[in-house]
Amino acid sequence: MSDSAHKGTSNPMSRDEMLAKDKKYIVRPWNGRNEPVPIVSAKDCVVTEAGGKEYLDFTSGYFVNNVGHTHPKVVAAATKQMQSVSQVSGRHTSYPVINLAEKLVQISPKSVNKVFFTTSGSESNEFALKMARQYKNKPDIAALDNGFHGLSLGALAACGSEKYRDTAGVPLASNVYRVPTPYCYRCPHVNDCETQCLDEVEQTIEKHPNTAAMLAEPVQSVGGIIPSDRWWKRADEIRQKYNLLLILDEIQTGMGRTGKLFAAEHYGLEPDIMTSAKGLSGGVGSLGVVLVNDKIAEGFFGGTTPTSGGNAISAAAGLALIETLYEENIIDHCAQAGRYFHDALVDLNDPWIGDVRFLGLLGGVEMVSSKETKEPLAKAILGSIHDALHEQGMLVTLSGPLGNFFRLQPPLTIKTNQIDHFVTTFNTVLQRVRTTV
Ligand SMILES: Cc1ncc(COP(=O)(O)O)c(C=O)c1O
Repeated sequence: MSDSAHKGTSNPMSRDEMLAKDKKYIVRPWNGRNEPVPIVSAKDCVVTEAGGKEYLDFTSGYFVNNVGHTHPKVVAAATKQMQSVSQVSGRHTSYPVINLAEKLVQISPKSVNKVFFTTSGSESNEFALKMARQYKNKPDIAALDNGFHGLSLGALAACGSEKYRDTAGVPLASNVYRVPTPYCYRCPHVNDCETQCLDEVEQTIEKHPNTAAMLAEPVQSVGGIIPSDRWWKRADEIRQKYNLLLILDEIQTGMGRTGKLFAAEHYGLEPDIMTSAKGLSGGVGSLGVVLVNDKIAEGFFGGTTPTSGGNAISAAAGLALIETLYEENIIDHCAQAGRYFHDALVDLNDPWIGDVRFLGLLGGVEMVSSKETKEPLAKAILGSIHDALHEQGMLVTLSGPLGNFFRLQPPLTIKTNQIDHFVTTFNTVLQRVRTTV
C-alpha cells in the first residue's frame, strides 16, 4: 500500500509527516528503539504503519489487545454504547459498568466481591495501596524486587527498578520496602534456593511490624519472572503469618494473558485486593479496577472519585472482551500457543538464547553472550537484533531486570503459522547478526 492510499482517511499524512509532527508536538519521556511506529490501522495481530508496512505485533499495543486489535465484537459493543451513554463520571452508574462489575466478581478469585473503577493500572495500584493502608491503619508495604506497578508516585515507589524510581524528582515514599523475587535463572543461592530466598522474604517482613500489605504481580511482567508453585505457597503463608493483606497486581497478567483468566488461578491465590487494567477494556479507552472484599470496601474513603473511572464505553468493550475470550476459547488457545512458542524457541538451540520463559503468552527470551557465564548479551548486539527484527516486520520490545529480555507477547489470538514465521525470522536474524560481531 502506498502513502497515497491513506489520502481518503480523515487525516492523511505520510509516514515522514507523522513522525515529524509527532516529534514536534508530543512529549515522549522515553523512546524505545525504533519507536514510535506511526500506526494507521491495526487488525488482530498485525499493525500497519503509514506507507503500508505491516508488523506482527509482539507487544499487543503494550500488552492490551488480548483478543487482537479492533476485534469486531469489541468494536461493535463500544460503538453501540457510544450512541446511548458514554461518560457519567465515577459518581454515577450505567448498565455496562454494573454488568462488568458483576461479571468481574463472578470470574475473579472468590476472596474479592466488589469493584472500584479507575482509568489505568497505575491509578488502580494507587487506590489499592490507599485501601490497604486505611484498612490496616499501618503505613508500610512489602513489594517484590523487580516488581512493576506503574509510573504515578505511589505506584512508582513500589517499583523494584531504580531506573524507574529515579525519575520521580522528589524522594519517594520511604515506607515501601522490597523483598527478594524468585529470579531463578540468576539465583544467588547455591543450596535449596527457594528455601533461602523465602527465608529472606520472611526475615525482611519480620523486621517491619507496621506492614499493611504485600504487593506483588503473580508473575512479573518485566522479564517474565514466573515463580514456582512452592514459592507462592510459602510466600502466601508468610504474609498470612505476619497478618499482611495480599494485593495482587493483575494489571498485565489478567484477562487471559497467562493462559488463565487471572494468573492467581495458577497458584490458588486468594488476594484481599486485586488490581487489573490493560487488556480489561479490549483496547477501547482505558479502564482499571480494584477488586476488594466487603470489609475493605466498607471503610474506604477516597475524598472523591476519579472523573472518568468506569466510563461506559470502555466497560461495554470490557464485557464484550470477556465474552469473546470465552466464546472463542481464546484463553486455552493462549496456554497452548505459549507452550508452542516456548518449545520452538528452545529448539533453536541458539548460543545467545540463555533462557526461554513463558506462562501462556507472558514471557520471552533472555539473551546472553555465553550460556555458561550467563553474561547478558551486549547492548549493541541486542540493538542490532532489534533493528533487524523491526526491519523484518516484527514489533518487539526489550526489557527485563538486565535489559536483555525480548518480550514476546502477541495478542492471545496469534496463530501457529505466525509464531513459526517469527521463530524462523528470529533464527535468521541471530545467525546474520552473529556474522557481524
Ligand atoms: C504489572 C503492571 N502494573 C501496573 C502497570 C501500570 O499500568 P498503566 O500503564 O495502565 O498505568 C503496568 C503497566 O505496564 C504493569 O505491567
